[in-house]
Amino acid sequence: MGGVSNSSLSSLPSTDRPEVAARLRDALIGASFTADGLLDLLGAPAYAALARSEIVPALRATRGDSPLEALVRLFLLQQPVPYARVADVLPVDDCVDSGWLVRAGGDELAAAVDVRPYGGPDGEDWFIVSDLGCAVGGAGGIGSRAEGVVLGVGGASTTLAGITVRTPVTSALDLGTGSGIQALHAARHATRVTATDVNPRALHITALTLALSGAPAADLRQGSLFEPVRDDETYDLIVSNPPFVISPTRLPPPPSAESLRDAPLFARLTYRDGGMGGDDLCRTLVRQSGERLNEGGYAQFLANWQHVEGEDWQDRLRAWVPRGCDAWIVQREVQDVTQYAELWLRDAGDHRGDTAEYQARYDAWLDEFESRKVKAVGFGWITLRKAAAADTEPVITVEEWPHPVEQPLGDAVRAHFERVDYLREHDDAALLAAHFRLVEEVVQEQVGLPGAEDPEHVVLRQNRGMRRATKVDTVGAGFAGVCDGTLGAGRILDAIAQLVGEDPLALRDRTPAQIRLLVEQGFLEPAG
Ligand SMILES: C[S@@+](CC[C@H](N)C(=O)[O-])C[C@H]1O[C@@H](n2cnc3c(N)ncnc32)[C@H](O)[C@@H]1O
Repeated sequence: MGGVSNSSLSSLPSTDRPEVAARLRDALIGASFTADGLLDLLGAPAYAALARSEIVPALRATRGDSPLEALVRLFLLQQPVPYARVADVLPVDDCVDSGWLVRAGGDELAAAVDVRPYGGPDGEDWFIVSDLGCAVGGAGGIGSRAEGVVLGVGGASTTLAGITVRTPVTSALDLGTGSGIQALHAARHATRVTATDVNPRALHITALTLALSGAPAADLRQGSLFEPVRDDETYDLIVSNPPFVISPTRLPPPPSAESLRDAPLFARLTYRDGGMGGDDLCRTLVRQSGERLNEGGYAQFLANWQHVEGEDWQDRLRAWVPRGCDAWIVQREVQDVTQYAELWLRDAGDHRGDTAEYQARYDAWLDEFESRKVKAVGFGWITLRKAAAADTEPVITVEEWPHPVEQPLGDAVRAHFERVDYLREHDDAALLAAHFRLVEEVVQEQVGLPGAEDPEHVVLRQNRGMRRATKVDTVGAGFAGVCDGTLGAGRILDAIAQLVGEDPLALRDRTPAQIRLLVEQGFLEPAG
């Protein structure tokens, strides 16, 4: 993987003056340039529009002359603001000297980078730094074609931050750090944070994000995938929101129209295009992470994967899991290749230009998929946990769960692997001897025709975490309802057998599979 071109991007603030970042931070917080302050100023619709890169509602809400309105215009809406207004609220000369602000002509100043307030999980006032222009393009896409442009926080960033297991650890690695958001989260619960990126600009921006958020500096290293990690280095936690987009790697034939002759059809965008072809980058990342994990450590990724004609997508993913790791892989969404190509063409703003050029690009995406026999692309989460003992038989769960979940899910992910351990250690006889408790906030739903005496299905539904729903039979529903930890599972089944007039031995024989499933999916938890 070669170097990343950043020549067409603006100069970044210096990382050599942490005292300026600290003063800037104090001034921003002092003026309520925080997630809560923004919501109060803008109101929910304009605030939500900003997250969609739409700035018009916020421009309308910041026509006044308060310090906060000046900061929103400067750092979020990327409008020039008169020097005197900025000087009222920021240490302006220091900010100009160290490159946070630049002269915009006349007596106006402009921001050199996008600075976005971001509320941490415990109400921390954090700030995410990113490149100008990438969060103000609205429906037009990111608005930059520079290869090394560094984006701020997107839906994928917060999804990964939400699913990450947040137990205190000694060492964490954020691979492909970008704006530094994952490193910032990791700094709360990891003694040492290493952040890597193939793009040096991203490492610079991560340093700015951490400094402006008042977080400890990270160990920043440039390079592709695990290249920057020494052979003897392992981690308790690895997180990566990698450049997972499955994009064309070959240029289409040159377009015939004169106007298109000079336009490069595919500018690689480092934040999304891994450049390895197909889903190879995600596969390589997942496979190589096994030997970088400490025993009991977690590696968590967002990824895209190909659905290839004649191949089971779940088998494809199972083959990615490195030896010695349990895995939980959740497919959250599947898009056919046309939806997928359109999504990423729009993301880059390719739909805004010349129609023939757009069509040539679209065609090239479909050519790429056709050549790989790809019918659709899956998007989801991959979590690995390295086994504590080398002889443990790994458990790999690959499932589809496209329904809404309750973030943050870090605790639910950790609990999943605890249940995996429990079930691995308990055979059916041990399950029947064990005591279980119905997890809080599980409800029962009965589905059937109106007026029918018996429901067609009984469904147990969780209102927390993964918000799973699972069909059970009447024995399963009755069993779950009685589980309060006092009676052993076998004793409960004997009582149910008596009630329904079934042979207790037969019930003891056939029910453990259902108990196993209810424990695996987190409806029942072992008591004591
Ligand atoms: C989708 S962005 C994620 C940024 C950030 N971690 C987040 O969660 O928002 C992917 C990042 O991976 C970096 N990257 C691209 N190719 C890489 C590679 N081969 N090795 C390491 N990082 C890479 C990009 O420069 C970019 O910063």
